[in-house]
Amino acid sequence: MTKNWLKLFPVIFIIYVFIINACSNTSKKYSLISKIIEPSDNPSTEAKIALGKALFFDKRLSINETVSCATCHNPNLAFTDQKQVSEGVFGRKTTRNSPSILNAGFLPTVMFDGHLETLEKQVIVPIQEHTEMAMDMLTLIKKLRAIPEYQAAAKEIFQRDFDPFVLTRSIAAFERSLISMNSRFDQYYYQKKKNALTQMEIKGWKLFSEKLYCIKCHPAPYFTTYKTENNGLYANYGLEEDKGRFRIHNDSNDIGFFKIPSLRNIELTYPYMHDGSLKTIEEVIYHYMNGGKKDKRQSKLIVPFKLKNKEVLELKAFLNALTDTLYLKNYVN
Ligand code: HEC
Ligand code: HEC
Repeated sequence: MTKNWLKLFPVIFIIYVFIINACSNTSKKYSLISKIIEPSDNPSTEAKIALGKALFFDKRLSINETVSCATCHNPNLAFTDQKQVSEGVFGRKTTRNSPSILNAGFLPTVMFDGHLETLEKQVIVPIQEHTEMAMDMLTLIKKLRAIPEYQAAAKEIFQRDFDPFVLTRSIAAFERSLISMNSRFDQYYYQKKKNALTQMEIKGWKLFSEKLYCIKCHPAPYFTTYKTENNGLYANYGLEEDKGRFRIHNDSNDIGFFKIPSLRNIELTYPYMHDGSLKTIEEVIYHYMNGGKKDKRQSKLIVPFKLKNKEVLELKAFLNALTDTLYLKNYVN
């Protein structure tokens, strides 16, 4: 009897090591997912998130009370507006396509040119921008302080009068709560649910990650490296075109460099690119298949490739499996 147990010991030991290993692998992957970047002076609390949410949807933040953050970052459209370029107060057009702010808590830098460090700093930009909310901060703070609910919440949560600190900290905390990391792809790849993806989607994932070069700039789990790159959208980012990161430091090496966007919820965030110039996922795939427009600063990674029609559909099917709208449960009235 004892002898039999001794014989089994190596087997049990191997199973034990295998299980421990498997668990630590999963927790490694999940710890990546829970890496929300939260500044030490702004820990999230439920009350703070609720205040931020109320402000995010409040049109009184704009000069003529017609535009809120949610006008351009609409929860039903994966926090975008599905317009080529966004429209602010008085129908004024911005120059860029509104990015999804789902998973914004993971952003190491903010904006298409990647020039802002925190979500807190970003909040004041659209409020003051002529083509967005066109509001003067001093007037706005006076106005919001006079709204009893906002003033009371500021006192309660931050122990101070409603001011820019309260405004930016609470909206940023709300943004950090917008997580969308449970797509069918996540269920397949991280949670090991083999049936979560169809055969077609799995083939698309293989194309995306093995045959093509997409993963170099759009790797899982975020589907971006968060760096800026020139993906050759234009042959020449000339006078008329938006030159991206160039406008921050006037460094000509930065011409045509834009932040690599996450591909999560790509099914809902059309049209694509910083200027919304590509309308469909197919148009994006053809852009890369042609090897970009070959601007002289275009990334060397982007070279032409051939796909069969069936493979284009597979790649598209995979990209559409990155949708996760579970966050919407917080928005049913
Ligand atoms: C008129 C439409 C409009 C309004 C209103 C608006 N945004 Fe935006 N938002 C945009 C556009 C367009 C961009 C891209 C700008 C850029 O990168 O230069 C953007 C970018 C952002 C980003 C950066 C995302 C990233 O991936 O780097 C965040 C965060 C954000 N907005 C939050 C907000 C908040 C908070 C408000 C309200 C205070 C707001 N926005 C109001 C259109 C809008
Ligand atoms: C060298 C880095 C790089 C590579 C490689 C790359 N991309 Fe991109 N991708 C970018 C950049 C940068 C943008 C944004 C450009 C802009 O806004 O003008 C982008 C944008 C996109 C968009 C639009 C996202 C949006 O929200 O607007 C999709 C879809 C996309 N890429 C898919 C792919 C696919 C599929 C591949 C592989 C065939 C790929 N990318 C390869 C850098 C890259």
